[in-house]
Amino acid sequence: MKEKILKLLGNAHSQFISGVEMSNRLGISRVAVWKHMKRLVREGYDIDSSPKGYRLNSCRDLLGFSLERGESAIRFFPVVDSTMDRARELARQGAAHFTVVLAEQQEKGRGRLNRSWFSQKGGLWFTIILKPDLPPQLSFKLNFTASLCLARTLNRLFDIDARVKWPNDILVDNKKLVGLLSEMETRGDMISFVNIGIGINVNNRPEQDEPNAVAIRTLTGREVSRKAILGAFLDDFEAMLQDILEKNIIDLWKEQSSTIGKRVRIETLNNVYKGVALDVDESGALILQQADNTTRRVIYGDCFHRENES
Ligand code: BTN
Repeated sequence: MKEKILKLLGNAHSQFISGVEMSNRLGISRVAVWKHMKRLVREGYDIDSSPKGYRLNSCRDLLGFSLERGESAIRFFPVVDSTMDRARELARQGAAHFTVVLAEQQEKGRGRLNRSWFSQKGGLWFTIILKPDLPPQLSFKLNFTASLCLARTLNRLFDIDARVKWPNDILVDNKKLVGLLSEMETRGDMISFVNIGIGINVNNRPEQDEPNAVAIRTLTGREVSRKAILGAFLDDFEAMLQDILEKNIIDLWKEQSSTIGKRVRIETLNNVYKGVALDVDESGALILQQADNTTRRVIYGDCFHRENES
């Protein structure tokens, strides 16, 4: 019933629909319609009610319904702590490969190295549950495929120059447009699931909290459809995963990268490494040339391009 109501309101394109019309079209009483509306408002949907009836605001960019991939594949939540936590629960409970956990808002969004991730309304915050037939040593391919694929999708949709930054961010003009975070659970020598969390600054204003971030709305000068971005990316990503074992993802990723050749600083939980990013090896590790001319292989961390640093 919830989906039916949202579809009806959404198709009215921000016009009011009277309670009588809703009750006739849904085959339920006006009181039942009213109760459903109360519940939807409690869940976070922006619905006006007036003597003219009910109206759903901002349906153009509404995430919570009509994503064309089939309702069961996308689990939408108006508010969650973090889509990572919700996805982990669902993955453990048996959610299917490629289930997407999507939220309008996160109250405890997480970034890499236990940082918090600001997740205001207007951004695209989701986690994809993957249950691939891969050994854990090859799971890095999934993360590199996701960031490469998303950069390509965004470039195609918006005619921008999005580049991947090691390990998995996406930057435009050295400003962060997308952050990726992945979590894996294994059983024996197989992957139980890899959850890839993606935060895309779309119609939000991340610059307020994070001066080095940028949103698609700022780049294009207009509000854009998050549903269109999500739909296009999921189609592209699913297709790209088909022959992931055959593709040399790292080589393709390097072509799209802004990190190779840059002076970088890598922060891990306990160390900071500096140098020139020489390469990314076939297992996804960054090869650094340090000031004393030695090379170091870094397997995880947060990477900062040092163009603006002394
Ligand atoms: C980073 O750059 O540090 C990674 C940020 C990842 C943010 C996304 S938003 C959706 C998913 N849920 C979270 O709590 N984090 C990821």
